[in-house]
Amino acid sequence: MSDEITALQHFDDASLDTAFAALAEQVRRETASLSDPEAFRLHWLGRKQGRLKLISEAWLKSAPPEAKRALGIRFNQLKEQIEAALEAPAAGSSKTTVQGIDITLPGTLRTPGIPHPLLKTMHEIVSVFHHLGYSTNLGPQVESDFYNFEALNFPENHPARDTQDTLVIASQQSRPSRDRLLMRTHTSPVQIRTMIAQAPPIRIVIPGKVHRNDAADATHSPIFHQIEGLCVDTNITFSDLKGTLDHAMKALFGSDVKTRFFPSFFPFTEPSADVQISCIFCGGKGCRKCKHSGWIELLGCGMVDPAVFAAVTAERRKVNPSDDAYNPEKITGFAFGMGVERIAMMLHGVSDIGHFYSGDMRFLEQFA
Ligand code: PHE
Repeated sequence: MSDEITALQHFDDASLDTAFAALAEQVRRETASLSDPEAFRLHWLGRKQGRLKLISEAWLKSAPPEAKRALGIRFNQLKEQIEAALEAPAAGSSKTTVQGIDITLPGTLRTPGIPHPLLKTMHEIVSVFHHLGYSTNLGPQVESDFYNFEALNFPENHPARDTQDTLVIASQQSRPSRDRLLMRTHTSPVQIRTMIAQAPPIRIVIPGKVHRNDAADATHSPIFHQIEGLCVDTNITFSDLKGTLDHAMKALFGSDVKTRFFPSFFPFTEPSADVQISCIFCGGKGCRKCKHSGWIELLGCGMVDPAVFAAVTAERRKVNPSDDAYNPEKITGFAFGMGVERIAMMLHGVSDIGHFYSGDMRFLEQFA
């Protein structure tokens, strides 16, 4: 290739065309057998000693001002031609280097992320209820006394509050008691939020994080997760509750699983029940896991207490004084709540709740 820069004598369009045609031809010849694209690039486009730069400097310097524009346009076209040649893979070439990446090198392995086992269990539970026509609702983790307790029929100073060791937010004493903030102790406040916002029929599940002032041990953690359910409509009965939960437990743990309901107490449900499932480890024969009873207690539930509907109605009447959507003479409902950690531990044979929060990859990778 000739690297000599010949001075331009004439700057009319025809002379420029001839000069640039020669350069274009030179580029074309070189690109036809391009063995070293980087050398070619440096030779033409090199910032300091590139041919394009040197020629343009030499020619522009001697060009009359009126020809500079015509020169510039032709230089740009030439530059585009060179760049296009660099981008196109050389015809017939077996080279595997594409724009500086050697595609024959082993790649960087990026292992895809997987949902955390708790999140996965939550999704599984929620999906059982989605198939029954439930939708999902969420609520805040910092909650007011009203939603967490009062509207759920836990009066102030009532001993039932002691069952939910509460973490309160500091410096709330100057507020009216219903507005005082706390970390929600259960997902049930979202029942209230939903009913205030929406008239029946309601079928929702509420997954979320809850907080209690509990010491951590193998089965307790001050932060854990619950899934709440609420169904309100005309003619909802305790048999609907039993059927729904029996189906959900079979869907989660297998169709052999049996359920049984025991009387219990929650301020916001009446009657209330604890639900037990037949032991999934021994099939009900009795083993260490079920303390030889054949049954494992798994969740709380009950029919929505009319006092809850009354609290909801009082709130709704602040907006619409004649609201009667939650008249307990016309509608009934059921609610249930379950601990996600407990179910995840049973499903996967995890013996210590702390594993879920440790961030230990050896534990987490087993769920991949
Ligand atoms: N909120 C209750 C708890 O955390 C569980 C529950 C929910 C019970 C809904 C009945 C109905 O203990």
